[in-house]
Amino acid sequence: MSSISEFAPVATAETPKRSRPVSGVAAIETTDLWRIYHLGSLEVAALQGVNLRIEQGSFVALKGRSGSGKTTLLNCIGGLDKPSKGQIRILGEEIGGWSERKLTEWRRMQVGFIFQSFGLMPSLSAYENVELILRISGVKGKERHKRSVEALDLVGLTPWMDHRPFEMSGGQQQRVAIARSLVNQPKLILADEPTGELDSNTAKEILGLFQSIVRERNMTFLMVTHDSLVDEFVDEVLLLRDGQVASKLDAEEEAVEQ
Ligand SMILES: Nc1ncnc2c1ncn2[C@@H]1O[C@H](COP(=O)(O)OP(=O)(O)O)[C@@H](O)[C@H]1O
Ligand SMILES: [Mg+2]
Repeated sequence: MSSISEFAPVATAETPKRSRPVSGVAAIETTDLWRIYHLGSLEVAALQGVNLRIEQGSFVALKGRSGSGKTTLLNCIGGLDKPSKGQIRILGEEIGGWSERKLTEWRRMQVGFIFQSFGLMPSLSAYENVELILRISGVKGKERHKRSVEALDLVGLTPWMDHRPFEMSGGQQQRVAIARSLVNQPKLILADEPTGELDSNTAKEILGLFQSIVRERNMTFLMVTHDSLVDEFVDEVLLLRDGQVASKLDAEEEAVEQ
């Protein structure tokens, strides 16, 4: 049996910012990725040939104006949406050819999702919200308890374990959602505007928490965001523009414009 604490070596003061595994395989790699939506006779090309490479163990922000394709890209990478054309490799494996069943299993075991609206079950306590994920994954009782308690502890919510979402602040609810995304010890976390509904102080706390989780557990974390606060927390900022990843220079220009 494994536990969260066995998941990856714990960081020390000397731990480099990115402890990259030696394998050299990217966590996420897309090649000429297209997603075209058909609305009657209208075609909307949300992704228009996205090429990107995200290294294992990195914390990456994906920015871009509203409608630039951020959510579409995140959903394709997480196997929630299917690209119209192109390839997605996760840890070297092409997910395009996988069956629905294999994708679902992979998502359940290897990917943590965090959304802007938290997505918690209102009638369940913080603990039960986290534990539910392990129930769905078929983890046995004792192990479920141990991992749920550990995940809630990691996000600083031990005293709030028995509280339901409506008894918690937005920041606390997002912490529950983070604990829930971590409890399965995923290799990859995908977050869509996770600080969108938080005030700037709380957003900073949450970003700091993400940063320390990525460093300590060597997960790969891709976060869609509008938030200008993120730059100091992440390893890299990618900019989507017109359905493509813009060059670094364009990204800097756009940052100046905003
Ligand atoms: N399910 C859908 N059906 C049709 N068009 C969509 C759908 N989802 C997104 N789009 C369109 O694709 C483009 C990119 O959307 P989205 O990925 O949500 O952008 P962002 O997250 O950057 O705001 C937009 O023009 C949007 O209207
Ligand atoms: Mg979006």
